[in-house]
Amino acid sequence: MPITLDKKNLRFTLKTDNTMYVMEMLYGKFPVHLYYGKKTIKKDFPNSNAGVAFQAYYEEHGEEFYPDSRTMEYPFYGSGDFRAAALKLRNGNTGGDTTLFTYKKARKLKGRVDIPGVPCADADENTETLELTLVDEFTKCELRLYYTVFPESDVISRYFVLENKGKTELSIEKCMSLCLDIQRSGFDVISFYGSHCHERKYQRTPTAHGLQSIYSRRGASSHQLNPFMMLVDSKATEEKGEAYGFNFCHSGNFLNEVEVSAYALKERTRVLVGLGQECFKWLLKPGEKFESPEAIVSYSDKGIGQVSRNMHKFIRNHIVPKEPYANRPVVLNSWEAFYFDIDAKLMVDFAKEAAKYNMDMLVMDDGWFGARVNDRAGLGDWFENKDRFPEGLKPFAEEVKAQGVKFGIWIEPEMVNPDSDLFRAHPEWIQKTPGYDPLLWRTQYVLDMANPEVVQYLKDSFSKTFKDVPIDYFKWDMNRHLTTVYSNALPPERQGEASYRHMLGVYELFRWLRELYPNAMIENCSGGGGRYDLGMMKYSTQIWTSDRTDPKWRTIIQHGSTFGYPTSTMSCHVAHVQDCRNPRFLDYRFRVAMNGPIGYELNVLDLEDSIKQTMKKQVGEYRQYEDLILRGDFYRLLNPVTDDMRYAYYFVNDDNSQILMTYLQNEGDPKQEKYKLKVSRADRNATYVDKINGGTYTGAELRAGIIVESDTEQQYSKMFWFCKE
Ligand code: GLA
Repeated sequence: MPITLDKKNLRFTLKTDNTMYVMEMLYGKFPVHLYYGKKTIKKDFPNSNAGVAFQAYYEEHGEEFYPDSRTMEYPFYGSGDFRAAALKLRNGNTGGDTTLFTYKKARKLKGRVDIPGVPCADADENTETLELTLVDEFTKCELRLYYTVFPESDVISRYFVLENKGKTELSIEKCMSLCLDIQRSGFDVISFYGSHCHERKYQRTPTAHGLQSIYSRRGASSHQLNPFMMLVDSKATEEKGEAYGFNFCHSGNFLNEVEVSAYALKERTRVLVGLGQECFKWLLKPGEKFESPEAIVSYSDKGIGQVSRNMHKFIRNHIVPKEPYANRPVVLNSWEAFYFDIDAKLMVDFAKEAAKYNMDMLVMDDGWFGARVNDRAGLGDWFENKDRFPEGLKPFAEEVKAQGVKFGIWIEPEMVNPDSDLFRAHPEWIQKTPGYDPLLWRTQYVLDMANPEVVQYLKDSFSKTFKDVPIDYFKWDMNRHLTTVYSNALPPERQGEASYRHMLGVYELFRWLRELYPNAMIENCSGGGGRYDLGMMKYSTQIWTSDRTDPKWRTIIQHGSTFGYPTSTMSCHVAHVQDCRNPRFLDYRFRVAMNGPIGYELNVLDLEDSIKQTMKKQVGEYRQYEDLILRGDFYRLLNPVTDDMRYAYYFVNDDNSQILMTYLQNEGDPKQEKYKLKVSRADRNATYVDKINGGTYTGAELRAGIIVESDTEQQYSKMFWFCKE
């Protein structure tokens, strides 16, 4: 039973397979957080004031309760708690921004409460939800906090509904979905920063007194700071110590805050995850409801790696769409092979080659529509370029498929080039604040997806162009961020909603496309991995990890991505023709790519047969390991950011009978340093045979560690495939 409600003591307990979360309604009113950690039979969770003086208190309850120095479930602005608030509302009548939401009732629900129009996790038969209703007596506004428990992945999600049941107009000025107050300090934050072509670089920084935040103000979750974040004990390692993982099921702006506060008796750490305050405002008129996106948290006392595996399991079980095909298609993508210079004949020839080497899908990237022969024109004009596809898309796609491969196509729905029929007809459909010029970025503007007419236009033009075209895969791209954000479909007093409503329009189009093509797969992309987030994963089986395909930087990007996301979502291509002519480099690239579902992105028409035969062998090899790569448990062993650019990891299946371990080293090492790679999941008494290099090991030997010696030559890799006898 994941949720127990002790209505007498107003103490509510949530349990996952390995963790427990306890809260209490202090004085029958204030939701106070008591415990989140390892499952325990303990019943006593002391929660007293951390401060002794210079504190605000309610006369009625005296100095026993200082809101600022307790651990709170959901703190409000103006309530005597001076730390970062989860919710700030402004009263339209009084202009005041103080609220006090107190406990009204609680109930337990089977499954979950869906959030209309917003991507959120799927429930299964073990999912339960606690609904905690609070009311602000002055405004009669009702706040329903939801805690949904996903026991098998040790994840608890948080979201809320705010319903204005009073007569006063309210506006939401800060909106956070999750708050976690911890009764101590001494943590590090692990977050993932970067830029285009350098996404999700690992960084670990000690927390300090005060506020630390990661965020996006770009209208996309962004390359710069990913919404996934960890809070770990300052001594925690991959295998040991307390760690929490946080994420937000949203692809637009976000704010994660970590605040450490000192008091006379104790320190506190507060974590908040949500839409934030800077890029979000929402007007809540009497009778209206606002539903927040969902945030998630997971805890483990078994180290950082276990929190990653919790996240992987949760995303695979509750977020990503069902796999549309028995095997994940190995794609051959046209982008790095030809950029914009594509046409029907070339693509059919390309497809023919893909089939010869056992690749499964041709992906026709940018350049097939409108006047899109470079990045200066055509976005928004979603009809085929007649010069390049004279017979039309349908017969062309059929010919591609007649070669024995699936057919995938690139789209970038949210964008428009100024040089396009769409922009000429509807200049008012872009994001542009009156009085200010819109900014360009890759010669394109962002469409106003908060405007239902724009979303409808896209639906109409895609349905017309793709009618009867047998499409198996969409690569959905988004190549710039939002500036001069504004929607002509909203009145002035609702402009603070434009950015969030834009994202809702994007999600609406995603859902529509999935319904139109229920059997197709979507690969998300945003200048590479600029929207590598749970919101996108709800609709996309995989995400293009980065435009950086150079293996040196790629290993850092892939390593960082594995902390919060399963490798099954991490689309990895073998690319760059020059280096691939060198068999050693080709092999290295392939091994770098085998951290996730693989593909190829190079002009195979221009390669010698021996290289193509190697690729064919590689596809076969990938198929042998695919199940481990897509569904195995993942363990990081070396961190390229802290271990001198060495990356090592292994995958293991459920019964520990197969272990695939990889060591990667991009640069030559004259010192030939040795690394001990410990396979902690090997069964101690079992015997394992390494099917790649030969050799037999006991599980105990694998657990003690295999020595890998680095090589003097650059781009060196070593793989091991340990199979139980
Ligand atoms: C982005 C993507 C690339 C490619 C180009 C096409 O940069 O990340 O993979 O699709 O757009 O314009």
